[in-house]
Amino acid sequence: MRVRVRVPATSANLGPGFDVLGVALKLYNELEVEYPYKGKKGKPNLIEISGEGKEFLPKDEKNIVWKAMKAVFNTRSKKKRNSHYKFGQFKIKMKNNIPIGSGMGSSAAAHLSGILAANEIIGRKLNKDEIISLGVGFEGHSDNIVSALLGGFCISVLNGGNIKYLKLKTPKLKAVVSSPDFQLPTEKSRKVLPKKVSLSQAVFNCERLSLLVSALQNGSFEMLSTAMEDKIHQPYRARFIPGMKKIFETAINAGAYGAALSGSGPSIIALCDNKSGAKIGRSIEKVWKKYKVKSKYFILDFDKEGAKIWR
Ligand code: HSE
Repeated sequence: MRVRVRVPATSANLGPGFDVLGVALKLYNELEVEYPYKGKKGKPNLIEISGEGKEFLPKDEKNIVWKAMKAVFNTRSKKKRNSHYKFGQFKIKMKNNIPIGSGMGSSAAAHLSGILAANEIIGRKLNKDEIISLGVGFEGHSDNIVSALLGGFCISVLNGGNIKYLKLKTPKLKAVVSSPDFQLPTEKSRKVLPKKVSLSQAVFNCERLSLLVSALQNGSFEMLSTAMEDKIHQPYRARFIPGMKKIFETAINAGAYGAALSGSGPSIIALCDNKSGAKIGRSIEKVWKKYKVKSKYFILDFDKEGAKIWR
């Protein structure tokens, strides 16, 4: 059996929607899993990686795609004895287009692709909620997993052990995602966040978040420069992002409706019409350059389909 999975990049938060909002983008990681793999003697290279991370991602059982697959096999092991699946029985090929550690959902895409491939192998026994819950177990937050699975613009809420989620109307916008040439692990970017925020910070974010969701739904994009402001995570993360505030201003001056950190950073996402992307991308690149940071930018449409599986 050969299973192919394609999972989109995602951008979480969009400013005030910390751990709540996510959008899927037309940039994909692809995974192909062959089972049972009866390849070469000794079976070297059970994991092959091309594209992003090919030099440094683990190609053994520490690889997070395999860990996600194993979690699926273990989940069902009590009822269906799926735990007989072993690493050496699979050929796993990854083609990564999503930059790693960049705030574009590469880890969610890797976890989700492994979960979906393994679920296919065991006969699709996990439903959508179970897939999300496994993914969130790995990620710790639902924003990227939900939008990568469903596509489009999603809102998700952790409610005790449950995850409530909604896929909303996908706004007719382009996303410019500017990705600097350094990584910022989410764990590091979360460590600097405060344990508590003040009432005025909370109100500020509630205001922006409601305005943002409404504006994206009814096309009031002129609201986005205000609606994408945030006071509960970006100001603290600014220490890792040279010129962050300047980049937001520059993007808006170059024609973006609004700009924010993409996920936990370091990439920046700017939302715009279908003409201004290149100008915004170049302007952001210039600011990074002033801070001696190399970067590349993507001009992306929103992905509306979410993760896809082929046999
Ligand atoms: N929402 C997360 C954060 C990142 O900002 O730390 C994406 O899951």
